[in-house]
Amino acid sequence: MCGIVGILGTHEVAPSLVEALRRLEYRGYDSAGIATVNDGRLDRRRAVGKLVNLSDLLVHEPLAGKSGIGHTRWATHGAPTVVNAHPHRAGPVAVVHNGIIENFRELRAELTAAGQSCESETDTETVAMLTRAYLEDGLSPREAAAKVLSRLEGAFALCFLFDGEEDLLIAARRGSPLAIGHGEGEVYVGSDAIALAPMTSRITYLDEGDWAVLTRSTVEIRDAAGEQVSRPMKTVQIDTSRIEKGGHRHFMAKEIAEQPVVLADAIAHYLQDSGITLPEPGLDFTQIDRITMVACGTAFYACHVAKYWFEQIARLPVEADIASEFRYREPPIPARSMALFVSQSGETADTLAALRYTEGKADRIVSVVNVLESSIARGSDLPLPILAGAEIGVASTKAFTCQLTVLFLLAIKAGLDRGTLTEAEAEAHLATLRNLPGLMNHALQTAPEIERVAKELAEARDILFLGRGAMYPLAMEGALKLKEISYIHAEGYASGELKHGPIALVDKTVPVVVLAPSDALFDKTVSNMQEVMARGGKVLLVTDAEGAHAAREGTWRTLVMPGVPPILAPILYALPAQLLAYHTAIAKGTDVDQPRNLAKSVTVE
Ligand code: F6R
Repeated sequence: MCGIVGILGTHEVAPSLVEALRRLEYRGYDSAGIATVNDGRLDRRRAVGKLVNLSDLLVHEPLAGKSGIGHTRWATHGAPTVVNAHPHRAGPVAVVHNGIIENFRELRAELTAAGQSCESETDTETVAMLTRAYLEDGLSPREAAAKVLSRLEGAFALCFLFDGEEDLLIAARRGSPLAIGHGEGEVYVGSDAIALAPMTSRITYLDEGDWAVLTRSTVEIRDAAGEQVSRPMKTVQIDTSRIEKGGHRHFMAKEIAEQPVVLADAIAHYLQDSGITLPEPGLDFTQIDRITMVACGTAFYACHVAKYWFEQIARLPVEADIASEFRYREPPIPARSMALFVSQSGETADTLAALRYTEGKADRIVSVVNVLESSIARGSDLPLPILAGAEIGVASTKAFTCQLTVLFLLAIKAGLDRGTLTEAEAEAHLATLRNLPGLMNHALQTAPEIERVAKELAEARDILFLGRGAMYPLAMEGALKLKEISYIHAEGYASGELKHGPIALVDKTVPVVVLAPSDALFDKTVSNMQEVMARGGKVLLVTDAEGAHAAREGTWRTLVMPGVPPILAPILYALPAQLLAYHTAIAKGTDVDQPRNLAKSVTVE
């Protein structure tokens, strides 16, 4: 969601704040702002919309100062306006915030009754107002911040900057990540290490409930109980080339294109000479009778695909649920259960809350994450990295296929442990997996054809995606990808469900994308496709050469993918689904990397 940065520097900080915000813009782009202290005077600049608007504003109204804070916003309370943009200021204090202050209404009522007035609709301004009240009572900035933190409810990360204090930042983490960076005579605060990457690789992650008082020469961290604590400083190597577009027009295009490489990295990481190698303490599936998988959005569809794998390969019952429902429905977690959480960011609020729910109930808590320092990784007893590298495009692409890869390896391991798969069968599956990056390269070569099809798809108002078996969740993922970046209404259905309702939508204006590798269910899917065509429906069939030979007649278009053993088709067929969404969005002229209303890393529920 929102991105936060803070710098106590040795030079003018405005350009560095803006540069750090550029790296955080994927978290939200409704508005942006910075505040600095210069000659003891606190001042700020804020602009609605993308960060470039703030940069433009700073050209005309520069902000001097060697200490400052910055923010890029994904609106929760209050519309994206300048008045609602961060930093929020009340007299001598400015605050940037990510998350939600749940008791802000009570606090605001208390403060307005005491004579303070507020200018914005945000929960954050209340934090600034409360801090001002305590400062006016004679508390020092540190005392005031401590007292404010003790009164706040909710999940948040905060950073405070004070008028007259050029060598002081106060940062707090409760439910929303925050990292401290250590430089040469400088100190930084960031929502993640990526934001700080150009300035430092020396990072201290605050723990849940921690708050820190920073000067250029000291970092004092206290835990939720107010005790001074020491948190380790780590060297975090961030491959900054992964955070650049690398010659591509969009991050999404780059992230789609790099899938063969990152997938090969992930496979090499887990598939060593001794077979599937997991980090300690490892996993023994003979001790597990059931898996509960929880995630949101695209990560949930990865779980849904994996459900087919675990059930078919390892005969393990799997429940897969979306985190926002799971966390409140109080599901029973029977003995010998493994809870498995999948999250690219590792910070998704609902997924994290679902993980907390399973603590003390599930025998094992495993996570499949892209960020090993994330809250979800740290809350699980076996975090498994997907090694996709930073994913910046809001629409998840390479994280999805890397998540599937790790989940597939787990399913194979489960099959071996439980004796439902022989060594030879497992080796055959793994050989297919090793070939997958090569097949992905072939699949990417269909991009020009997909681009042509997409130009026509862009005319549609509604699009249906169909799939059977493990291609059903992929149909839902294809529809999600298309709607989030092209704004075309799309739904994914199990092919067999079509005639139980959705077929009523079919006419010549509604394209139907059928994801159908020639597998054991192919004929069934083709029957459903015929039902669509019999009603004038315009079918885009995505299949392999064999499938195309058997069923292309009468389709509007047929896209031919390389042949792949059906078990791994969901990974390979993710590519045409992503390319279809990408090129349709380009044809529609939407903002591919930063689609409206969305943000990456959803840290509020
Ligand atoms: C869609 C997309 C989202 C995320 C979801 C979960 O393209 O990216 O649906 O998959 O918000 O995010 P993570 O994986 O960070 O928990």
